[in-house]
Amino acid sequence: MKGKILVAGGMGFIGSHTTVELQNAGFEVVIVDNLSNSNIEVLDGIERITGVRPAFVKADCTDMAAMRRLFDEYKGINGIIDFAASKAVGESMQKPIMYYRNNLNILLNLLELMPEYGVKGFVFSSSCTVYGEPDHNPITEDAPTKKATSPYGATKQVSEDIIADVIRSGSPIKAILLRYFNPIGAHPSAEIGELPNGVPANLVPYLTQTAIGVRKELSIFGNDYDTPDGTCIRDFINVVDLAKAHVVALERMLDNKSDEALEVFNIGTGDGVSVQQLLDAFERSTGVKVPHKYVARRPGDIVKIWADPKKANEVLGWKAEATLDDTMLSAWKWQQRLRERGIM
Ligand code: NAD
Ligand code: WQD
Repeated sequence: MKGKILVAGGMGFIGSHTTVELQNAGFEVVIVDNLSNSNIEVLDGIERITGVRPAFVKADCTDMAAMRRLFDEYKGINGIIDFAASKAVGESMQKPIMYYRNNLNILLNLLELMPEYGVKGFVFSSSCTVYGEPDHNPITEDAPTKKATSPYGATKQVSEDIIADVIRSGSPIKAILLRYFNPIGAHPSAEIGELPNGVPANLVPYLTQTAIGVRKELSIFGNDYDTPDGTCIRDFINVVDLAKAHVVALERMLDNKSDEALEVFNIGTGDGVSVQQLLDAFERSTGVKVPHKYVARRPGDIVKIWADPKKANEVLGWKAEATLDDTMLSAWKWQQRLRERGIM
């Protein structure tokens, strides 16, 4: 056993995949989640993949007393990964107070408890949303951040600043900020994956739900952008590859491989892929045609953004490995599994 890790929000999409990779790497995991955007069956999926059922505490990370009880019960936690957050950009425009309260109070509680309980390393789920529309692609970590266009995005920027301030104040912790690009796909076993609430706002779940017939047609938001095929460009990162980045980030801090108390890494493939290319990859790899139409641009969309992942490649020794076709296949297999289970 390499250490005990608290995975806040570990029942969610990225947290569940990361729990699998942590356990595979020999870490002991304690998950804390209030199940506001996930469900208890995720534990079964994790257990079926790894043979180990992680410890699970159902609690709200904004509840300081409950978090203290957790740290008292599970002594000797070495590191924390903070996935717990509300993450729907559109909803954050309607409910800004809820977003600031949830995302920031979770973070403040965890940062306050870390020195109290001797926890050394902290990994934070940040986002490429902090960059806004890039002036250049691929984008590097030192590119300027731009004013957030949603309360959700603002919580990520403020969270990054809070972590930096806490470290600057002399708190005896180390932190790594991982700026994810667009996480997609599912574990190849289809035991765990993404379970969006209601109508998906994100491209891949909407696409797979259309392919299986839950949605009539995929709308492609804009094909008149200044890009080779007119659709927006993103850096779609396989969720298992993304999960593995957390394992190396934690190892870096816990094994004292760096003198820096705070580091930031882009976690992406380095390849810009258009919405049209992603749809083509899905149809090519699965053989399933997806009914679609081209509609007006979605207000607020970034036109093109993809990562320069060189720093993560060289410093963390991490690299995205999955092909886009394999990732699309994993997303499709997961969608089919949801159908078999009568969920969707
Ligand atoms: P998710 O909603 O699937 O997982 C988040 C988990 O946190 C859920 O299980 C939810 O129940 C839990 N949670 C929320 N508030 C909580 C609280 N107060 N107490 C305890 N648990 C709470 O989301 P995800 O896609 O896995 O994202 C994980 C993290 O990565 C989030 O911080 C998100 O902002 C960030 N991120 C996600 C993406 C993406 O596209 N999915 C991109 C960049 C960054
Ligand atoms: C991707 C592309 C859409 C749906 C969001 C958040 C960001 C980050 C990741 C957390 C865009 C197009 C989409 C559809 C479409 N999350 N699209 N039809 O907007 O890059 O990023 O998730 O930090 O903060 O903003 O992801 O999947 O919504 O869209 O044509 O039905 O797909 O216009 O070009 P996005 P997305």
